[in-house]
Amino acid sequence: MKQAAASPFGPELFVGLPSEVEIYEVGPRDGLQNESAVIPVETKKAMIEGLVDAGIKRIEITSFVNPRWIPALADHKELAKAIVRKPGVRYTALVPNMRGLDGASEAGMEEVAIFMSATESHNKKNINKTRAQAIETYTEVIKEALDRGMKVRGYVSCVYGCPYEGAVPVENTIEVSKALLDLGIYELSLGDTIGVGNPLQVAHVLKSLVDADIRLDQTAVHFHDTRGTALANITVALQMGVRVVDASIGGLGGCPYAPGASGNVSTEDVVYMLEGMGIETGVDLDALVPVSARLEAELARELPSKYLRAHQGFCARSADA
Ligand code: HMG
Ligand code: MG
Repeated sequence: MKQAAASPFGPELFVGLPSEVEIYEVGPRDGLQNESAVIPVETKKAMIEGLVDAGIKRIEITSFVNPRWIPALADHKELAKAIVRKPGVRYTALVPNMRGLDGASEAGMEEVAIFMSATESHNKKNINKTRAQAIETYTEVIKEALDRGMKVRGYVSCVYGCPYEGAVPVENTIEVSKALLDLGIYELSLGDTIGVGNPLQVAHVLKSLVDADIRLDQTAVHFHDTRGTALANITVALQMGVRVVDASIGGLGGCPYAPGASGNVSTEDVVYMLEGMGIETGVDLDALVPVSARLEAELARELPSKYLRAHQGFCARSADA
């Protein structure tokens, strides 16, 4: 099946939709961090290079975290060194502390992402620190990374709900986001870690951020599609002014320290929807499919991507006809 047919209606029919959106691919990191199977470095390298060849310009390739906490990404250094960098593409690695930053630098990373939660309980489970301790750690990490000429992205998790605390006041998100922006992150990614948010909540959170002087042109959205609301949430976020969308090839993903978290919204599904609406992503849908199909074979299970299912069904029916 070809790239989504262009809609006869332009995005101008929806108030506020942009003509271009940047996809930030998290599959190799957020997607694979949950896998119990050991995936060879060569397979991860082929995955990352396949995504870049499909047009992905920003990609999070791994985490320099404690391998005892995230065994699936224990090969971070080897992988980061093995990737052949393509000009014009930005490669990022997740780091939780100075040890992670040093590992990332040594492996040639020029961009890192730091992460913490809007809630105290998830933050403790995920990085073994209170939010205040995390901010203290990131004060040093961000300063050092900027001194080394690196760029730093920042995630805030559990924005729409917490697996331990339930509903999350928007003030938590604002407080943590402002602290990270003040420390020098260039982009804030707001995580619906357990996939509970709905479009009205998205509008409420983003409006509250704007009212607190946080710019949406430096804010990305990161939805896990646990309850099927991710694409609707993305559409509303774009209408509100967000221009960067995190997505994961095949819909891989989850957070090992967030019970109930399932896959991130799939890159194929996001690209299909946006390109169909006349919003350019620069990503070739046809070139994404073989990458997720290879991952399905490697992981020996169906991946959650709806576009992939539909595409495979279409190919099977065409072959039968
Ligand atoms: P800790 O146990 O408190 O760390 O873990 P520590 O400083 O006490 O050190 C304990 C041991 O860990 C020491 O080794 C350190 O050297 C080692 P030992 O002396 O016992 O042999 N260590 C490290 N090893 C490798 N790399 C490092 C590192 N740091 C310390 N960077 C720590 C604290 C943060 C390290 C740990 O909690 C950790 O690795 N957590 C990562 C958990 C994680 O990756 N979770 C998934 C992220 S996904 C997410 O958060 C959501 C997101 O996708 C957005 C969304 O969906 O909302 C971003
Ligand atoms: Mg995530």
